[in-house]
Amino acid sequence: KFSVVIAGGGSTYTPEIILMLLDNLDKLPLRCIKLYDNDEDRQNKLAKACEIIVKEKDPDIEFVATTDPQTAYTDVDFCLAHIRVGQLPMREMDEKISLKHGVVGQETCGPGGIAYGMRSIAGVLENIDYMEKYSPNCWMLNYSNPAAIVAEATRRLRPNSRVINICDMPIGLENSYAQILGFKDRKEMDIRYFGLNHFGWYTSIKDKDGNELLPKLIEHQLKYGNCPENEAEGNYTDDSWMETARKVKDLVRLDPTTTPNSYLQYYLYGDDMVAHSDPNYTRANQVMDGREKRVFGECARIAEVGTAKDTTLEIGIHASFIVDLATALAFNTHERMLLIVENNGAIENFPDDAMVEIPCIVGKDSYEPLSIGKIPTFQKGLMEQQVAVEKLVVDAWIEHSYLKLWQALTLSKTVPSANVAKALLDDLIEANKGYWPEL
Ligand code: G6P
Ligand code: MN
Repeated sequence: KFSVVIAGGGSTYTPEIILMLLDNLDKLPLRCIKLYDNDEDRQNKLAKACEIIVKEKDPDIEFVATTDPQTAYTDVDFCLAHIRVGQLPMREMDEKISLKHGVVGQETCGPGGIAYGMRSIAGVLENIDYMEKYSPNCWMLNYSNPAAIVAEATRRLRPNSRVINICDMPIGLENSYAQILGFKDRKEMDIRYFGLNHFGWYTSIKDKDGNELLPKLIEHQLKYGNCPENEAEGNYTDDSWMETARKVKDLVRLDPTTTPNSYLQYYLYGDDMVAHSDPNYTRANQVMDGREKRVFGECARIAEVGTAKDTTLEIGIHASFIVDLATALAFNTHERMLLIVENNGAIENFPDDAMVEIPCIVGKDSYEPLSIGKIPTFQKGLMEQQVAVEKLVVDAWIEHSYLKLWQALTLSKTVPSANVAKALLDDLIEANKGYWPEL
C-alpha cells in the first residue's frame, strides 16, 4: 500500500482529489494521505472535512495535515503537487494588470502566466528538495501551474529528479470529444497529440477498430465547437468553460486538419478575449466567489456535522489522470498518457531541449515518449515563439535579469509591442515584490 502527500493541501481541488483517490483504492491501495501547505489557516479550512471523508471510507488509512516539510515528506511514495505561490489574490493581480494594458489577462497564458511562473519556480524547487531529502524514491506528479514554465525550470535546475509534469486539460478535452463522438469513456479513443502545455493539437482520434474519427469531430466543431449539439448537456464546470468550448469553433476554422487545445484561444484570438473580459472582475474573482466559497463552505459544514455522507463535493473526474499515472509508475501498466517531457527528437523538426506535451508510455518507474515525426509550419512557428518565451522566463529567474524578462514579455504572442511589454513588466515587478527574485 502507498503513502501520498498532497502539496498545496489548502487548494480548493484537494477534497475532490481525495474523493478521487478513495474511489480508486482498488487500483491504487493507500495506507496514508497527507496534506501539506505552508498556509496553515487555509489548509485548516479543508483538513477536518478531508479527515472525515477519509476515515468514513477506510478508518485504517492514516490521515495527516501538516505545515512541517519533514512530517509531510517522510515515508511517501507519491507527491501530488498543485501549489499556487501567491494564491488567488496574486492570480487576480496577474489578470488585472494584463488587462489594464489591453492584453489577455489569464492565469497561465501571456503576462499573467509569465508573472506566475516567476513566482512558482522557487516553490516547486523547494518541494522537490524536501522530497529528495526525506523520501528519495518518491515520485512527484506535478501539476502546479504554469506547468510549461515550471517544467522548463525543473528540466534545467533539477534534471535528475523524479518529477513528472502533467496537466488535466487534455482529459477535459477528450471527455468532450468522447461525448460528441458518442463514446462512454474517453479511453475508448486512441489519440495522437503534440504541442506544449496549454498549447497543442490533436492530429488523430481513432476508435478501437482503428477508424479515424477526427474529420467527423472537426465537422462538428466547425458548427458547435466543443459543445454537444445541445449546449446545455455539455459537462462544463461553469459558463466561462462553456464559452471556451464554444470558441473552439474559431480555432478549428484556422486549421481544419487538427483540433486544438482550447487554451490557444488566448494566443490566436487575444483581441476577442480582451474584449470579452471585465477588467474589474476576472476569472480569479469568479473562482474566489464561486468555487472557493462553495468548497470551503461545504468543508466547514462537514466538519460541523461530523459526517460527509450527504456531501455535495464531487469526485474530481479530471483528476483521474493522477491515479492512472501513479498506477502506471507503480504497477507497470504501460498506459499511454500525455506528459510534459523533454523533446529529445520526439518531434523531429523541433529543438531537443524544449519541454513538449506529447503521448508517452508510462511503466514501472519510467516513461517513454512516442515519436511524433515532423510537425507543420503553422504549429511549429507558434510553438517556437512560445518555447522561447518560456525559456527566457527561466533565464530571467536564474539570472535575475530584467532584460530577459522584458524580452520574454515582448516575444509573447499576446503582447503587441516592446513598449507595452515594458509597461507591463514594471507593473508586474511592483506587484510581485517578495515573490520574484530581485531583477
Ligand atoms: C484547467 C487547466 C489547469 C488550470 C485550470 C484553471 O484545468 O488544465 O491548468 O489551472 O483549468 O481553472 P479555473 O477554473 O481555476 O479557471
Ligand atoms: Mn493545465
